[in-house]
Amino acid sequence: MPKMFKKKDAEEKALKPRRGKFVSRLRGMKDILPDEYKYWNLVIKKATELSKAYGFRRIDTPTLEALELYERSSGRGSDIVAKEMFSFVDKNGDKIALRPEATPGIVRAYIEHGMFNLPQPVKLLWLGPVFRHDKPQAGRFRQFSQYNLENIGEASPVADAELIAIAYYFFRELQLDVMTQINSIGCANCRKDYLVKLEDFYKERGRRSKLCNDCKKRLAKNPLRLLDCKEKQCQELAGDAPQIVDSLCEDCRNHFIKVLEYLDELDIPYNLNPTLVRGLDYYNRTVFEIWPAFAESQAGKPADAEAAGKVEPPRQNALGGGGRYDGLVEYMGGRETPACGFGIGIERVILKIKEKNIPLRDEEKGDVFLAQLGDQAKRKIMKLFEELRKAGLNVRQAFSKDSLKSQLEAANKMGVKYTLILGQKEVMDGTILIRDMESGIQEIVDYKKIMGELEKRLDNGK
Ligand code: HAM
Repeated sequence: MPKMFKKKDAEEKALKPRRGKFVSRLRGMKDILPDEYKYWNLVIKKATELSKAYGFRRIDTPTLEALELYERSSGRGSDIVAKEMFSFVDKNGDKIALRPEATPGIVRAYIEHGMFNLPQPVKLLWLGPVFRHDKPQAGRFRQFSQYNLENIGEASPVADAELIAIAYYFFRELQLDVMTQINSIGCANCRKDYLVKLEDFYKERGRRSKLCNDCKKRLAKNPLRLLDCKEKQCQELAGDAPQIVDSLCEDCRNHFIKVLEYLDELDIPYNLNPTLVRGLDYYNRTVFEIWPAFAESQAGKPADAEAAGKVEPPRQNALGGGGRYDGLVEYMGGRETPACGFGIGIERVILKIKEKNIPLRDEEKGDVFLAQLGDQAKRKIMKLFEELRKAGLNVRQAFSKDSLKSQLEAANKMGVKYTLILGQKEVMDGTILIRDMESGIQEIVDYKKIMGELEKRLDNGK
């Protein structure tokens, strides 16, 4: 090959962009693709409407907060802070964390914006992403989204019952069967005696040696967490441990009884679960979790079914959880303020909706498709499209396609009832064709009367 050509080839090659190395998404992170959005829209709409009806107002907080916020509120000993935090030192040398849960940020905002000056309680709705560096598996991600409700400033057991009721209605209206697990972990006063009893229990007859390594450490620091451990051998021991409800002080017992009475009144089913303590430091009195009903029915199954991997321990696939946190606002620098709330994992809810094959309306479907043939028709129909869209019609198009066949295929995919067809002839005549997509029948209509024609037909079809 002559030298000159070789040089030209090499130059062209150098100019052509090379296919680069592909960088995939991080482990435990999920893309939400367009096909999945119908589930998200449904769940978020339900959460928003329900919360609004009960007087909750939307709040958002930053994704990044000071690491200390979580260390002090969720607790240094909690799994979330001790093992699962995405934290780093920023360019100023400040210790920062990606939010592993929403409650601490919401409490910070309540204090920082002086919301204690507003009429109490302040009822807040929060929807957004949360980050935990946990071991990814089905239904467990490193970035996931939560629907949180927080009722700040209400001491009455009505608030606890209202939250549990809202969570129950949320799942029921999404056609998901759930069972609420509920317990009371009392206050610092009644817990003092109970913790002594619990420690004694675990120290008795070599029980300590049967505990997992984490629980051996927890026994000295936070024995309550032993009841909540996910390890099989620890769960078996927890089943025989003394129950905290038997040690509640009078106020805590009365509070718990009132919550249960309200739930009974509202016919909200629940299961009293003496080992439910929740893994965060700030809870007191009522704690609850929402479990899928199938997990509930499996909860009593022999432990080897879990060992065989057939059944996940229910606590690991809880759909939601929450409780009262009367000391947190004060502990984080605010006034003494009672509070309670819950968080529901949106991805887990969507997985359940998919598992149950609940049919959903495809919101991308339109009513009318606008097809065109020829350049003049294309320009005219682009204007018509905008007029119909502004008038509130659910219109669709594929202006980049030229053949009628491919446009009708697109119209079919979008599930429209009618397609308008504008060609060169119709432009000349001042008409347009309207095609009924089900029967295939086409009619010629006066172009100026198309809006009225469509409204009439769409109204009749309702
Ligand atoms: P939590 O139990 O840690 O509570 O999380 C609430 C829900 O988030 C869980 O029940 C579950 O559905 C979902 N979830 C947790 N971890 C993951 C994960 N790795 N992947 C997918 N979903 C997950 C809290 O966060 C508390 N702040 C709730 C609260 C609000 N308590 C009072 N107010």
